Amino acid sequence: MEVVTQVSTMPLASKHSTSRDLPPVELDLSSFLFESIDASQFIDVQRWSPFFDMIPIDPYIKDGYRYKSIAWFRVKHTKVAPMAEIDAHLAEVNRLSGMSEETSREYLSGPPAWQSDETGYACWNLPQYALQQSIKYNPVHGDLRREYQRISELVTDSADFHKLLDCYASFFGWSDAIVLVQFQRVDCFANRIGFPAVEGFHQDGNRHVGMLVVDRVNLTGDSGVSQYVLDDHGKKTDDLVFNSVIHPGRLIFWNDKRVWHYGTEIKVADSSVNGGRGIRDVVIVSAKTPPANMPVGPVPNSYRNW
Ligand SMILES: [Fe+2]
Repeated sequence: MEVVTQVSTMPLASKHSTSRDLPPVELDLSSFLFESIDASQFIDVQRWSPFFDMIPIDPYIKDGYRYKSIAWFRVKHTKVAPMAEIDAHLAEVNRLSGMSEETSREYLSGPPAWQSDETGYACWNLPQYALQQSIKYNPVHGDLRREYQRISELVTDSADFHKLLDCYASFFGWSDAIVLVQFQRVDCFANRIGFPAVEGFHQDGNRHVGMLVVDRVNLTGDSGVSQYVLDDHGKKTDDLVFNSVIHPGRLIFWNDKRVWHYGTEIKVADSSVNGGRGIRDVVIVSAKTPPANMPVGPVPNSYRNW
């Protein structure tokens, strides 16, 4: 099993030059594949574990082994102007969500929910948008809209969660982006394996993605393995450039344009413990910057509070 990894244990804010006084410098994605860091240095993931027990089952996975909740944020550096395409996109989706212009403006130009004095990034909590791939081309009748419950505010309002977003933004050094955060659990039993990546090796149409592993419970050591292969002009290649279990507390960033990713199926280690259940809990962060994939759909009726 060949394992190629680049590991750093330094908190990213000190490693990269992002500061509150200067506009950020974007990481050169032409020379970046992936990098794994020890997030347990600045995030106590064990405190997030209980929240995964509350995540509803993902109704769009018919075999019922996946649980998902999501939340949307805008993360922009204070030394750069807002990106007009992001403002326009959010205004349009807010309008389609039945939001008044006044309320919509709160999200677009109101004060941020928090801001980092160290890196200069500021964050706005966005409404509970649906996941929808093609609103840009068909705003009213796009692809299937997938509705998910919001990640608990006890998590999203916590200092550790802010550090995760701040770390993600600082690592890549974007100026302004919409960030989708997904809390995802996959489970398995002795008679039923679980699939972290239903679609096999794939790309998600982002520029870069991060995954923080929160927990692995009662899984065989060789299951739920993260794997990357290189992209070759839009086609998947065969040789694994990363093939390793990512352990709880570790955060990995990768270049979604340069590599295809996969997580192997998960299997129960011991059917006599934990009710015979194995679980893998992860947080996935993906930043959306136009003209990339902007899968933001109107807020489902049940989440409209305006
Ligand atoms: Fe993916």
